[in-house]
Amino acid sequence: MCGIFAYLNHLVPATREKVLEILINGLQRLEYKGYDSTGLALEESDGNKKGSIRIVKQVGKVSDLADQAKASLDLGKSFISHVGIAHTRWATHGQPSISNAHPQRSDTDNEFVIVHNGTITNYKDIRSFLIQRDYKFESETDTEVVVKLIKYMHDTHENQKPAFSEIIELAVAQLEGAFAIVVISKHYPGELVATSRGSPLIIGVKSKSKLNADHFPVLNSKDMRGFFSGSYGRKDEDLQYHPIGPHKEIEYFFTSDPSCVIEYTNQVIYLEENDIASVHGGVLDIHRGSRSLDERTYREVCTLKMELEQIMKGSYSSFLQKEIFEQPESVVNTMRGRVNFDTKEVVLGGLKEHIREIRRCRRLLFIAAGTSYHSAIATRQLLEELTELPVMVELSSDFMDRKMPVFRDDVVFFLSQSGETADTLQALRYCKQRGSLIVGITNEVGSSISRESVCGVHLNAGPEMGVASTKTYTSHIIALVMFSLVMCDDRLSMRQRRNEIIEGLRVLPDQIRTVLALDEKISCIAEKLHTKKSVLVMARGYNYATCLEGALKIKELTNIHSEGILGGELKHGPLALIDQAMPVLMVCMRDKVFPKSINALEQVKARKGEPILLCTKGDTETQALVNSYIEVPQTIDCLQNLLTVIPLQLLSLHMARLRNLDTDRPRHLLKTYTS
Ligand code: F6R
Repeated sequence: MCGIFAYLNHLVPATREKVLEILINGLQRLEYKGYDSTGLALEESDGNKKGSIRIVKQVGKVSDLADQAKASLDLGKSFISHVGIAHTRWATHGQPSISNAHPQRSDTDNEFVIVHNGTITNYKDIRSFLIQRDYKFESETDTEVVVKLIKYMHDTHENQKPAFSEIIELAVAQLEGAFAIVVISKHYPGELVATSRGSPLIIGVKSKSKLNADHFPVLNSKDMRGFFSGSYGRKDEDLQYHPIGPHKEIEYFFTSDPSCVIEYTNQVIYLEENDIASVHGGVLDIHRGSRSLDERTYREVCTLKMELEQIMKGSYSSFLQKEIFEQPESVVNTMRGRVNFDTKEVVLGGLKEHIREIRRCRRLLFIAAGTSYHSAIATRQLLEELTELPVMVELSSDFMDRKMPVFRDDVVFFLSQSGETADTLQALRYCKQRGSLIVGITNEVGSSISRESVCGVHLNAGPEMGVASTKTYTSHIIALVMFSLVMCDDRLSMRQRRNEIIEGLRVLPDQIRTVLALDEKISCIAEKLHTKKSVLVMARGYNYATCLEGALKIKELTNIHSEGILGGELKHGPLALIDQAMPVLMVCMRDKVFPKSINALEQVKARKGEPILLCTKGDTETQALVNSYIEVPQTIDCLQNLLTVIPLQLLSLHMARLRNLDTDRPRHLLKTYTS
């Protein structure tokens, strides 16, 4: 996914070196999402009416861009305005190259300069329109079309002396697709305009002057329902508007990712669909396609809960390792304030008002991609048992390919770590149009899925910087287990089962610590596996999700082929793969499907397979059947997969390290796919 970071300050004394440092720092915070090229543009206005803009671009690393910028820009020089935009690009239209990198410009004079995330679906039509009017294109990107269209709007409306944001409004009205853009212009020195449609954009605000309520769009108290910052199900009419700024000294940070602003400020505004935000004379204004004061759009300033240390690696060698080892705490954070272990009460504030409606629904649908999808597989059986409702689990891309029938009395859950996955978001909008109740479960406050859901659960797992999801997987499972518990809390017949699960949740963090302590043993197993061409992972019952998720972790982190196989499917084809040379990991826990798991184990052994077992701690009888095993503490059936997945996360990490691979940024993959 591409990343945007832009900075504007009003009357804050700063050298250009300082502004550059802020931009580079922002880009470095975006690095975890993956990119192939980077670039930035700095405005250079010296108090004259018109400014000028310098652009620096680079294929490859942010550090190379920083070196190039330092060498080519006159850093000691001071300028009146301090405005800069920056970008990390992941190629969608056009190869990674300097000409395709952002910022893109309107012309060789850099009259308008833009950074963009997303995809413009009608860019070919606009491009032909502009080519007919003699516009010359330098890149293959859809972004260049946008910035040239902005210049066209400027040139054709120049006599009316439009405000900067009016020109952007005219241009974006012609765009189809999803986008977040930030634009600067030499015609509007010291100003910046940003807008978004279907792609996240956040504004961080930092001021030395004390900001009081008069400076903020504020929430009415009636909107303080919901489970965090009022983001889910908020309505515009609930808000009151107060413009922000001008202050003597104020700084604005525009970004697609909150982790870029947290070291400067925790005061942020999430732009919503079609919002146009502009800064003029240090004042931030937000409109939605109308400049009339009465029709201003109101957006509250939220306080980011994130801490800077959460986005730093600390003593860990990678974010992936840190996030795997954070799981004893992240699962507690997901349960915090929701599960009362003494009274056995479970309360999900973000769903509370809707539970009666959910209990009456026709069926429950869970829609997600990748690891988030596996978390729904992991809990499907429990959801069916405790809700006594039909449960369907769907991959978002396939759901949209099939355009499955959904109904007003369906309740549809959208599970997404980022809250931005394009397929999942599209599926959400599809279900919303059909009148289903939309429930979001995400880890990103203010993400598109959280904003467009009627109600939901926030995972509170803390930022996940590694591309491969680990702690958000376990937190997603916990969120769905809690939902199942809430759904049956009025049933006497289920009380004992509920209590056992809640007890299981209570001891879970310690059990996770026990599993994490196996790290060294698992690294020895990784030594044996990291040179293999393929690894099979087998399980059944509640652990089926573990084999799917384990195989996904192995393939994405190690680039080794891996397949998760349901034990019950072994004889229907996969058995043909088994021989002495094929590594097989098998989950064989002492649960209801244990006899069947042992049967699968025997079948593998009969074909000269030498499986490595994940088995119940102390189960010496099963351990005696194999040469190599990993012991996992036993817990209640429906929570067992939270413990069996962790050795596979660790195994993938160690195998990737032994293969000298970047464990935080696996090749060809991005953290978030917004298009
Ligand atoms: C794998 C992984 C991906 C994501 C998938 C959905 O480790 O992280 O499979 O789970 O891209 O992303 P979200 O959960 O952000 O919707």
